[in-house]
Amino acid sequence: MSDYALLERQLAALLDERDPLTNCAQTCAFLMQEVPDLNWAGFYLQRRPQTLVLGPFQGKPACTPIPFSQGVCGAAARSRATQRIDDVHAVADHIACDSASRAELVVPILHDGEVWGVLDLDSPRQGRFTPQDQAGIEALVAIFQAQTDLERL
Ligand code: SME
Repeated sequence: MSDYALLERQLAALLDERDPLTNCAQTCAFLMQEVPDLNWAGFYLQRRPQTLVLGPFQGKPACTPIPFSQGVCGAAARSRATQRIDDVHAVADHIACDSASRAELVVPILHDGEVWGVLDLDSPRQGRFTPQDQAGIEALVAIFQAQTDLERL
């Protein structure tokens, strides 16, 4: 189990400027290094209405764009609620970018009443993300949001 309180302090120190692209890039690189058993970590951004476009990420090249109507990322954007999936094979409209992915955690990022984007984490290990991981990652996303000028994108 990761020490999320420590990760929160480390991420807060790492994000020492407010540029959204810089902070997306740093945040996903940090998560990929510090959170065990991930094969992909990255951002999708609402660059067009109701559409998630691939942003900074770590891992294999990924699917883009993703409409709000599709996949686990689309479900997070549509419902504005975190999606925690133990086994993506059980999700009918899961979008398989990397066949190694088995568990997925997608956290929506809201700004000014709109979906700004989502943070997507994939793991090759079924059941990788516990409710504690969800709470920890949501806290890290809150730090990202507090320390980033999202409107500058
Ligand atoms: N699996 C996601 C697509 C994004 S990739 O995992 C990087 C989905 O179903 O939305």
